[in-house]
Amino acid sequence: MAAQADADDSFSQMSTKALKRMLEGLGVSTSTCVERGDLLKLAEGNAGAADEGVDALYALSDPHSGDRTNMRYLSSLPARPRSALIVAGDVDDDVRVLTETLRVCVSKFGGGVFFTPGNHDLWLLGRERDSLAKLDVVLKAAEAAGASTTRRLLRGRGGERSVLVIPLLSWHHASFDTEPALTCWGGLPTARQAMSDYHNCAWPAPLDDATESVARHFDALNDDAPADVDRATTAVVTFSHFLPRIELIPEKRFMFLPCLAECVGSRFLGDRVARLRPDVHVFGHTHLAWDATLDGVRYLQGCVGYPSEWATRPASLEIGRLRCCPVAPDGRGRACELVRDGPLKVWDAAAGLAGYFGAKWSKHYEKYPRRPDVTHVLPPYSAARYAPLPGAEVRDVCDHVPPFCT
Ligand SMILES: [Fe+2]
Repeated sequence: MAAQADADDSFSQMSTKALKRMLEGLGVSTSTCVERGDLLKLAEGNAGAADEGVDALYALSDPHSGDRTNMRYLSSLPARPRSALIVAGDVDDDVRVLTETLRVCVSKFGGGVFFTPGNHDLWLLGRERDSLAKLDVVLKAAEAAGASTTRRLLRGRGGERSVLVIPLLSWHHASFDTEPALTCWGGLPTARQAMSDYHNCAWPAPLDDATESVARHFDALNDDAPADVDRATTAVVTFSHFLPRIELIPEKRFMFLPCLAECVGSRFLGDRVARLRPDVHVFGHTHLAWDATLDGVRYLQGCVGYPSEWATRPASLEIGRLRCCPVAPDGRGRACELVRDGPLKVWDAAAGLAGYFGAKWSKHYEKYPRRPDVTHVLPPYSAARYAPLPGAEVRDVCDHVPPFCT
């Protein structure tokens, strides 16, 4: 009954267009609906189709759908009227694009769409007074488009399995990076020089992005309820845009921009994920595919990213069915597009949690230990960008921690 009441309440908050799209996604004709009240009755009558008949839960992050290629990709996804989708942030800084994107997702995934904002979504375009006001606008726009920004239990088709999906709000803070700075290399930019968030967001006092206050504030906006479900039958999937653990990004010597470690994650988010003990935590932001289990929690990233990234470093983005194929007629061009049957399937009503996907960088850490104390060595692809100082070394990635090189 609680789930039904929640569903009825969320329907009343949806726009008329979003209601129509959701019903059409479920295969329900809305042609007989004359007034909004008719649509609400129809949605309430079909709540069971969404809440009781979900086949699967999919996830993606960083759709950046202001890029026309990415919007085309989302629009080309097959309709899955009985599946749900997680969108783990970074849709676009323009709320109109965000709304359109989530509507497209709602029309494809009739079992429900879940969303939490990323940094790009909170960049200011001059319409809102600060990024907290933008957060409010973005969350309301997402709900109006038919997406859920709060937790919801999805019952699997057949009734034997369920999945509790919990969106988590988060923001990054520099002290998340607990690993040593690089040494022996010059010309490394600071996070404030390299990251647009510091220029494109504004925070009302006393919040200050030079401290932990913004990240702490975002974390406090989350629902404190535990994931109190029968774990034998119900999987728990949490998701955020940012990283809950530093181990989910390559060590800074492997990054084009080593300073990124300071603006990717939140310790508060990490503590919250540890308390919730999900089976799976989905994250985004770094545009690096990931599949790793740490302390009993499986961490997954399957990002859409930018076409230019798929053209230049596809191996670091590929995971599951999120992969691309060349579209140049002779097969030699660098242009590519994502295959149409992504995104990642995280959970299935029949089979439960997804099997292991594997991903380039998380596989690296299955093979090699994390050695952030190695601060003077860069791989060739990064070394070319920076100035070597006395003591600097250049080595291939697999040769950073002798004798582990194979
Ligand atoms: Fe991001």
